[in-house]
Amino acid sequence: MSIVQNVVQAVVKKAAELAPDAWLPGGKPDPLIRQTRALLGAPVSRIDGPLKVQGKATFAAEFVLENMVYAALAYSTIAKGRIAAIDTSAAEGAPGVVLVMTHRNAPRMQPTPLFLTGEKAAGGDNLPIMQDDRVHWNGEPIAVVLAETQEQADHAKSLIRVTYEAETAITSFAEAQARGTEPGLFMGQPLKIEIGDAESALAAAPHQIDVVYRTPRHNHNAIEPHAATVAWNGDELLIHDASQLVSHTAWSLAQVFGIDEKQVHVTSPFVGGGFGAKSLWRHQVLGAAAAKLAGRPVRVALSREGVYRTVGGRTLTEQRVAIGASADGRFEAIIHTGTAAMTRHNALPEPFIQPARSNYAAASFKLAVDVAYLDMLANTFMRAPGESVGSFALECAVDELAVALGMDPIELRIRNEPKKDPTEGTPFSSRHLVAAWRAGADRFGWAKRHPRPGARREGEWLVGMGCATATYPYYRMPGGAARITLNRNGRATVEVAAHEMGMGTATVQTQVCAERLGLALDQVTFAYGDSTQPGVVMAGGSQQTASIGAAVIAAQQALVAELLKAAGKDSPLAGLKVDQVGGWNGGLAKLDEPGRHESYASLLARAGRDEISVEASAPPPLETLHWSMHSYGAMFCEVRVNAVTGEPRVSRFLGSFDCGRILNAKTAASQFRGGIIMGLGLALMEETQFDERNGRIMNPSLAEYHVPAHMDVPEIDVIWTDIPDPHSPMGAHGVGEIGITGTAAAVANAIFNATGKRVRELPITLDKLM
Ligand code: MOS
Repeated sequence: MSIVQNVVQAVVKKAAELAPDAWLPGGKPDPLIRQTRALLGAPVSRIDGPLKVQGKATFAAEFVLENMVYAALAYSTIAKGRIAAIDTSAAEGAPGVVLVMTHRNAPRMQPTPLFLTGEKAAGGDNLPIMQDDRVHWNGEPIAVVLAETQEQADHAKSLIRVTYEAETAITSFAEAQARGTEPGLFMGQPLKIEIGDAESALAAAPHQIDVVYRTPRHNHNAIEPHAATVAWNGDELLIHDASQLVSHTAWSLAQVFGIDEKQVHVTSPFVGGGFGAKSLWRHQVLGAAAAKLAGRPVRVALSREGVYRTVGGRTLTEQRVAIGASADGRFEAIIHTGTAAMTRHNALPEPFIQPARSNYAAASFKLAVDVAYLDMLANTFMRAPGESVGSFALECAVDELAVALGMDPIELRIRNEPKKDPTEGTPFSSRHLVAAWRAGADRFGWAKRHPRPGARREGEWLVGMGCATATYPYYRMPGGAARITLNRNGRATVEVAAHEMGMGTATVQTQVCAERLGLALDQVTFAYGDSTQPGVVMAGGSQQTASIGAAVIAAQQALVAELLKAAGKDSPLAGLKVDQVGGWNGGLAKLDEPGRHESYASLLARAGRDEISVEASAPPPLETLHWSMHSYGAMFCEVRVNAVTGEPRVSRFLGSFDCGRILNAKTAASQFRGGIIMGLGLALMEETQFDERNGRIMNPSLAEYHVPAHMDVPEIDVIWTDIPDPHSPMGAHGVGEIGITGTAAAVANAIFNATGKRVRELPITLDKLM
C-alpha cells in the first residue's frame, strides 16, 4: 500500500458509505473487461501527436495575453537567516522594467496548503511566500522583476543587490542525523510496521545479509520547465499552468489569495512531463501576486536553474536492508529501515519501505522510515516516490542473499512469492508476477547467464546479467467525476478535469470512452485539463486512468438510466435495468444479447431531445480496502563494464510487466520504456550536487546533472501479461511509475554479475567500478 493509499483510506473510512457499483468488490467486474472489443488495447497513435509535431499544441509558457509582461525571479544565496538590505533601484531603473516585487511590497498571501494534507491541497511547502525578510532555503525567491521582455527582466534581476544576516543552518545530512531523527509521519501516522520479532529471527536465521544502501538527491528535469501565464480580471484569476492537478491548484490558489475557488480558473491543455513536480510551487503564486501588483498579465517561465532552486526533487536516503533466510531460502525476517532527509515545511518522508510491504512472504517484518530535518528546499514527489529508491535497496539485497545462498535470484524470489499480502493480510486482486518472471526469463535468455561474477568477458568488456522485481501500488483517489454530453448525431463529449502530460491520456481515454459508449474513436471527444470541468483528479500516483475510468463508468450509468427512462415501452430495451445495458454499435444494447439494440439517435428522438448531458461522481475507492492491488514487473538487465576504465554501459534491457489489462499497447509501451530510461538515470547518472556547507545546489543544469541521452539507452524490450484485474475499472493497473521501480537494482545486480563489485550507493559511476 502506498502513502497515497493511506490518504485514500483515511478519506474513504470517513466517507464510509458503501456505494454498490458494477465493478466494486463483491460486485461484477467492469463489463468492458469481458466483452471482446476492437479499441481497448489497440496501439492507437496519439490523438495530440499531429498538434505537437506541428507546434500547434499550446503549452503554459506559450499563451499570449494582451498587455502581458515577463517575470524573472531572484534567488537567495543563503540557507537561513534574513534579508538585511535589498537594493532594487538599479533594477527598477533598467530598460523595460515594470516593477520589482519583494517582501516590502508583495500583497498579503496565505501559504499554499501542503499537498496531500487536504483533498485539494496542491502546495509543495507551507512556508510564508515573500511576506517578510526571512530566508528558509538556499535558492528561495526573494524578488520578482516584471519587464516588457524576458531578456529585460533577466537582466534587471542581475542588478538587484542583497545583503543577508545569515543564521546557522542545518545543511549536512550527518549533522541533521546527529541532532536526532524522528519517525516519518504521514497523515499523522508513522511509516512503521512490525510483525513478529524480526531482529531475533534475523539473528537466528542460517543465512543472513545485513547491508546499507544510499541514494542521493534527485532534481526534476521534465522536458518542459515549469511555467504559468497569469491574468487577473477583477477578483478573478486565470492561470494557464503546467499542471498535474488543475482542480487542486484552483482551490489552493483561492486559499492563498483569500478568494472563492470558483474565482480561479486553471487550464493545462498540454504538459511536457510532470513526474510529481508539476504541482503548486512559488512561481505560480508569485506570478499571480506580481500580476495583481502590476495590473497586467504575467508570464512566469522558470529557467532550468529556476526549477532546481524552487521546485523540490527526490530526497536522499540511507537504508538498511537485512534478510534472514532458512536453509532452503525462505525468508524468516525482512528488515528495511533507514533515514530520509526532509524539511519541517513539507510532508513527504520518502517512503522507501513500500516494496518490502508486499513483495515477499516472510515470517517477520520490521519496516520503518525515520526522517532527519534540514534547512533546504522542500523535497517532493518524484516518479514512484519511495518505490524507486526502496526497490533499489530491497532488490539488491535479495540478489546479495541469492549469492550467499548459491541460488538463482529468480528462483529465490519465486520461492518467497506471497499467497496474500504479507503485511496487510488482504488477498491480491490480480498478481501474476511469477508468470511475468517466467516469460521474461525465457525472452531475455536468462538461462545463458553465468552465475559466477566476472565469468564473461569480451575484450575489455565484462558482461553480466541482473534482475529485480518492480512493483507499484494501484490506487484511486476519491473525487473522480465526469460529464458525458451525447447529441443526436451520435457524437459524445466526455469531460473530466484530468491531465495529458505526454503519457497518452487524451488518446487512451478517447479509446475507453468510445468503447464504453459503443462509438467510433472519431465520434468521441475527450476534453480535459481545465478546472471548470468535473472532478478532482490528479495525474499522479499512476492512478489517473483508474480515477477517470471509474468516473466515466458512473457517468455512463447515469446516461443509460436517462436513456432507458426515455426509451419507453416500444424500445427493444424496454424493461431492462441499467446494469444489463451497455454501449454498442452507436447506441445501447443488452450486454448479453446485442440484438436488443437501439441507436442513440433513435433514443434521443423518442425523448424529443437534441442532446443529453449527465454528470456523475465515481464511487469511493473501496477496492483498495478489500484487495492488495499493485502493478508488477520482472526487470532484466545486461550490462557491459569496461575492465580498464570502469565505464558501465547497459546493453540490453527487458521489462516483463503484469499491470492488468493494457489499454493502449503503444502508449503503455512508451510509459514502460520511459520509466525504465528514468531508472537507468537513477542507476548510473542522476545526482543533485548539494553543497553541504551552505545548502546550495551546485549543478542546476542539464550540463552538469546527467540524465540518459540516446547513446545511453539500449534497446528496451517490453512485454506484459495483459490479464485484467476483475476489481479495477477496465481491469487496468497504472503504468506510469512501475518502469522506474526495480530498474536500478537490475542494473546494479547486472554490474555485480559482470564484475563481482557490489556498489550500494547510487549513482553507479565509473569511479566506483575502477
Ligand atoms: Mo507521480 S511522483 O505520483 O506524479
